[in-house]
Amino acid sequence: MTSWQEEDGKHIWHPFTPLQGLDDPLMIERAEGVNLYTEKGQKIIDVISSWWVNIHGHSHPYIAQAIHDQAAELEHVIFAGFTHKPAITLAKRLLEILPDNQSKVFYSDNGSTAVEVGIKMAFQYFHNQGIEKKRIIAIDGAYHGDTFGAMSVGERGAFTEPFNPYLFDVDFIDFPSHGTEETVWHQFETLIATGDIAAFIFEPIVQGASGMRVYSIDLLNRMMRLAQKNGVICIADEVMTGFGRLGTMFAADQLENKPDIFCLSKGITGGAMAMGVTTCTDEIQSAYRSSDLMKTFFHGHSFTANPIACAAANASLDLLLTAECEDDRTRLNQRHNEFLAKIEGHEMVRSPRVMGTIVAFELNTERETSYLNEARHHLYPYFISKGLLIRPLGNVIYLIPPYIISDDDLEFIYSTILNFLDEYQSMTF
Ligand SMILES: Cc1ncc(COP(=O)(O)O)c(C=O)c1O
Repeated sequence: MTSWQEEDGKHIWHPFTPLQGLDDPLMIERAEGVNLYTEKGQKIIDVISSWWVNIHGHSHPYIAQAIHDQAAELEHVIFAGFTHKPAITLAKRLLEILPDNQSKVFYSDNGSTAVEVGIKMAFQYFHNQGIEKKRIIAIDGAYHGDTFGAMSVGERGAFTEPFNPYLFDVDFIDFPSHGTEETVWHQFETLIATGDIAAFIFEPIVQGASGMRVYSIDLLNRMMRLAQKNGVICIADEVMTGFGRLGTMFAADQLENKPDIFCLSKGITGGAMAMGVTTCTDEIQSAYRSSDLMKTFFHGHSFTANPIACAAANASLDLLLTAECEDDRTRLNQRHNEFLAKIEGHEMVRSPRVMGTIVAFELNTERETSYLNEARHHLYPYFISKGLLIRPLGNVIYLIPPYIISDDDLEFIYSTILNFLDEYQSMTF
């Protein structure tokens, strides 16, 4: 243990980290492109984009310059009663790339707050009109963040257990795994028919934290159609799927009906700064446009629309909208599919799938798939020792690298995983 790690242990409490039984956190000194460099000089490829946020590589000079320039000019200003060019520019640009029905941008500072804002916006939309609709539909296995509203609409499991008594009541439909779509459709129809549903919140097409699980676009289209026909607000949590992750700019670009509210974060700044964004239709905002003060949306954060974060997001969009970035996403998708073809028949592999720039599969362990499956505790240090940051979700191994990752790095990652699969049964961890 280095003296820095010792100091860390004395003073810092890390996220999602048991306080006993784990190795000390690695000291990272710098990062460039897809690589993290430790204090001891080890190079680690960031195969999970540092919790899915990084899209153009670390310490990107173009984003770093934008952050520098903005910090020297206007680092922050209260966003109530004041505004600034970086926020206005970003809002206009986001609305240009989002589906046409999106009309207004509300800023916050992370994925959970983006979701929190979305839920509150939807509930108050009805409240402001004197309409009694109190319930919300969510999907089993969902992860929408760690604040109380976001936890309420997420999977009730080990992470939420201490808080379950304080979470509001939500109508969960089953996760529509392959073959169960009609059952889930009936659950959804029955709930909509109660007339008490204000909103339906979902991670479109892929549920991230529950193990990169894909579900039927067809079913989602049907559910959204029925919801919107019945005045139920559809909230797409695109915190993970947004900004090209699934190939298209947003997952919603693959849907027929367009969500009423979008929650965005992670890749929005290219992963360089903390930012959350919630967008909505003009219809939703119209319920707030009133001389009655009580119809105001009383929500905000100290760092709402932080100019440096907005500048980073504008710079990231410049990069994201280039043909080169689109080519990188296509290339990544092709490489993943080639890898998929190699692992498909492997006895240690279950349910391999590629979704845009993500590839995932379940390790064929005896225990069921879940975040707490022990495989994760062996796999993480194993891959770190090979120079790869891969953080399995239980026994689900997934790769979600920055789009700029080279073919050579991908080759190294795939072959390391193939070797691992071949040797897994004989390994003693
Ligand atoms: C779909 C989804 N929504 C919300 C969140 C929460 O975002 P944050 O960790 O920035 O609060 C996450 C984080 O992984 C997520 O995957």
